Amino acid sequence: MKSAVACVLLSAVLATSPTAAQDRPCDDQPAALAPSRDLYCIELIAAPGIRAASGRVELGRIPGPFTIAVAADGRLLHQPVITLAGLPSPSSLGSFTTYVAWIATPVMHPVTKLGEVRNGRNVLAAIALEKFVVLITAEDSPAADEPRGKVVLRGQSPATRLQPPDVLQFTLGAAPARSDTAQATNEHAAHMAQAPPPGSDVEWTTVPMPRGLQMLPAEMALRPGVEPYLPRAPADQPIHAARPRELVPLEDGDTLRLDAGLVRRTLKGRSYTMYGFNGQYPGPLIRVPQHAEIVVQFTNRLDQPTTIHWHGVRLDNRFDGVPDLTQDPVPPGGSFTYRVRFPDAGIYWYHPHVREDIQQDLGLYGNLLVRSPRADWYSAANREEVLMLDDLLVGDDGLVPFGREAATHALMGRFGNVFLVNGEPDYRLSVRRGEVVRFLLTNASNTRTFNLSFAGARMKVVASDVGNYEREEWIESVVIAPAERYVVHVRFDEAGETALVNRVYGLDHFRGRLFAETDTLGIVSVMPEAASPDHSRDFASLRRDSVAAAGIARFRAHFDRPVDKSLVLTLRTRDLPFVTERLMQLDSIYFAPVEWSGTMPMMNWASTARQVTWVLRDPATGKENMDIDWRFRAGEIVKLRLANERKSFHAMQHPIHIHGQRFLVLSVNGVANDNLVWKDTVLLPAGATADILVEMSNPGRWMLHCHIAEHLSADMMLAFTVE
Ligand code: C2O
Ligand code: CU
Repeated sequence: MKSAVACVLLSAVLATSPTAAQDRPCDDQPAALAPSRDLYCIELIAAPGIRAASGRVELGRIPGPFTIAVAADGRLLHQPVITLAGLPSPSSLGSFTTYVAWIATPVMHPVTKLGEVRNGRNVLAAIALEKFVVLITAEDSPAADEPRGKVVLRGQSPATRLQPPDVLQFTLGAAPARSDTAQATNEHAAHMAQAPPPGSDVEWTTVPMPRGLQMLPAEMALRPGVEPYLPRAPADQPIHAARPRELVPLEDGDTLRLDAGLVRRTLKGRSYTMYGFNGQYPGPLIRVPQHAEIVVQFTNRLDQPTTIHWHGVRLDNRFDGVPDLTQDPVPPGGSFTYRVRFPDAGIYWYHPHVREDIQQDLGLYGNLLVRSPRADWYSAANREEVLMLDDLLVGDDGLVPFGREAATHALMGRFGNVFLVNGEPDYRLSVRRGEVVRFLLTNASNTRTFNLSFAGARMKVVASDVGNYEREEWIESVVIAPAERYVVHVRFDEAGETALVNRVYGLDHFRGRLFAETDTLGIVSVMPEAASPDHSRDFASLRRDSVAAAGIARFRAHFDRPVDKSLVLTLRTRDLPFVTERLMQLDSIYFAPVEWSGTMPMMNWASTARQVTWVLRDPATGKENMDIDWRFRAGEIVKLRLANERKSFHAMQHPIHIHGQRFLVLSVNGVANDNLVWKDTVLLPAGATADILVEMSNPGRWMLHCHIAEHLSADMMLAFTVE
């Protein structure tokens, strides 16, 4: 049998723990803010003659360092929890002694046994198959290795709804697209969107189609209803080729000059006009000791207003870099002095907070490496590699233009097709055999969530956004959403080459299937000479960070507190092209928990932030986005429930970021986490709920928003005050 199903043995920690006060997807009376049944609960249907029997299969979340469990090859992993009722005694149906649960592909081959089941709750081995059928059969022995007995209950996984378009959809898809000149304005667009000046000679080019994908004709005719924009150098001003980033070590009190300006980049032999900090890609890597305070004299040499936000850093509010909330945007030619203090060790980053969909995408991002005075902050490694991950959207005629008045790609965000590690499309690293490398990873892309691994190299996760995990944990891959950071240790045991790959499954809407995608981000060459010192002993054990654990333990008393605030994540649309409207509203549409890849490029590209409003709604008041005005007192601990609505027009994952504070992700889809870490960004899969515990320690006016650049441009933000 093919390895369509991964069997992972899980211990009893999966039982509802006391901290998981949250609802689970198959609960009988789903609460308003429960996880989506549609994506995470399968209703079983009784076979004729067994009417009294009923059952549900929860596609339970497997606890782990990420909010979604994914195998290195990109398949989603679920913990099936089968709840059965009304099953008659097996012998009443024939010569049977027991019931057994199975899963099979929709064509019923191969079939995999999940295990024996009975009335009540049955927790079974993890599954990794997205389109599948569940069967409960009566069997003459629990040892049965294929279903030979009588089928009593059956059901289908949510992904089986993913089918090729039918005749009706083809008819819709063949209709000419209505022209898209809607003049609707976004209520809050002015808050963030200072339109760059017109780029007179810029024209819309078409977006490249992902390899092997097809679209309906009406989709191919779509164009965004805004003016195209790309940066252009003034004729009298040459722009210089960007240089790789430099390490800038700074001490307490030091000053750094930072300029944002135009640069020339050459990628795969083609030249582009892009943006850079101090002419570098990425921006300078700023290294500071923990508790230091530095001065950054910033000058804007762009053709549009900007600011700098120090992502994840719990600094003074007035230097947070949010236009109109903490400062006026810095106009072209203007400057601003930031004073940045670093209360927490770890890896952070900086980027503009104006039209991130353009400015960050064109290269304005850099890392901040904050060193702890603790020599044992991380366990031992032979070297450290600070990597910023990104993807750039390049067509036949160069960079695909951006929307001038409003962001394009407002539905799913702008997925790129050229993968960049530290701004380079061909990242290379050479190590010795047995070397332990500490990778400090930051996802700087507009929307892409990566599932990264090194073929054949063992990996453990050590830290995330704002500090270390309570204990190190083995992982198959790193799931990193926009703005998140993960620190991983990887040991390269075998001489030769190994690739850093992103392996995911995309949705092929045209053929109605999931398809595997592998992108290579870089190559590590492992030399035959052995590494020294040899850290293999250290690497083999999973260290517990007692300092981090003790810091988190102080908050444990709050884990079970009632939810203080909630947010529903959803979206509203207006004046979208007819074909987009209709295709999205079909009952059969399937949204994956995570959209790993931009597989509906035309519909996505042509929907602008004028037509799409992403919404954070406070269900207690009905208020939305910037109308929400939460107030807290400094020192308050707040439990916040996030519920990502599946029923919305285009459900999708959202990396939710909170400025100026830190939080713990207590549970996802009702399943508690047992290895915590301080975070500033959490990925919420479609239809999922999460409870997070926010320490409101830093006074000021702060933002909470989705870090998908186009969702932020489409209003998905709110502000709160800590007094
Ligand atoms: Cu990195 Cu408000 O964002
Ligand atoms: Cu979002």
